[in-house]
Amino acid sequence: MARSGARAKITGTGMKVPDQVVTNEELAERMDTSDEWIQQRTGIQERRWIEEGETPAGLARGATEEALAQAGLEVADLDCILLATLSGQHDFPGTSFFLHELLDAGEIPCVDLRAQCSGFLFALNFADSLIVSGKFERVLVVGAEVHSTGLDISTRGRDVSVIFGDGAGAVIVEANHEAGDPGEILEVRMHSEGKHARRLWIEAPSSAHRPVRLTHEMIDDGRIFPKMEGRYVFKHAVSRMPEVLLETLGAASVKVEDVDLYLFHQANLRINESVAQRLEIPEDKVFNNIQKYGNCSAGSIPMLLAEATRQGRIQPGQLVSMTAFGSGFTWASALTRW
Ligand code: COA
Repeated sequence: MARSGARAKITGTGMKVPDQVVTNEELAERMDTSDEWIQQRTGIQERRWIEEGETPAGLARGATEEALAQAGLEVADLDCILLATLSGQHDFPGTSFFLHELLDAGEIPCVDLRAQCSGFLFALNFADSLIVSGKFERVLVVGAEVHSTGLDISTRGRDVSVIFGDGAGAVIVEANHEAGDPGEILEVRMHSEGKHARRLWIEAPSSAHRPVRLTHEMIDDGRIFPKMEGRYVFKHAVSRMPEVLLETLGAASVKVEDVDLYLFHQANLRINESVAQRLEIPEDKVFNNIQKYGNCSAGSIPMLLAEATRQGRIQPGQLVSMTAFGSGFTWASALTRW
């Protein structure tokens, strides 16, 4: 059913990545892989990794500051902070609290949201609902990820570790009192299917593991590193992404060819090419940056949005579609008008 009444809009976008660039050649010095293999299978050329002193919350702050400046707002103007991540800075409290501290955000409520690579779109949906319900006027939505410190940087973990990078993106979502303002959120749809949870996951530490969550054995066995059934994930991603994208466009009565720009989660360039092919979306309507940043999970979509904005790829009146798929499994799509 199409939405009616109050709407929310994105008024600012921002991103922050660490300065340290890690090339495929550098990874090949630490494991049995090659620039050719990584580029052919994933499209990734390099990624960013944090250095000593950098944190997920610090990246989130950088992204937030750009988004706030673009929206012409200050931290004190925010009503709520939602931060999506799968790589929490600590087990608890959530990364959003460390961001809150860095922003000196007074008593503004903040919370972490865990929906992995679809996390940003899930958070965007919640922000949209909080605003449309009249509860809040201005919500900061962040996707922030530091993968580099949790990867198995050896041949054992090469299928996963070549894919992931560190980065954060942020948007400001505000109530849209004048319908038709740029950045209007037209639709967001989201789905989960927990039966696939162990197909892409980190097993340990685990609060279900007795008597303690983490043992030396778990570390030695590499159970602390992400494990992925790559082909299984790939197969589901290329069918679920078009599915939820079409569901979202359909709910807004928009056709595939009416959309001006497509932002897909940056997990693998081959996945995005396959999704575009299935939906007959021309190459020049798809904006990717995985070549430079790898897969930054919840950070990827807001980073794309920020970079597309920085590069002038989003023009007034254009329809921009965002779609993600991730561990869980989760999948989600949003449609916005600028
Ligand atoms: N460098 C070199 N060889 C590698 C490698 C690497 N980094 N990683 C895996 N290989 C090897 C495998 O060991 C395997 O060797 P074998 O044939 O001797 O057993 C071979 O390459 C093929 O492995 P496979 O896993 O079948 O490759 P693939 O074509 O499926 O590509 C992925 C691997 C990870 C790129 C791909 O499966 C993928 O992108 N999956 C989805 C990932 C994703 O979206 N994840 C995040 C969701 S949010």
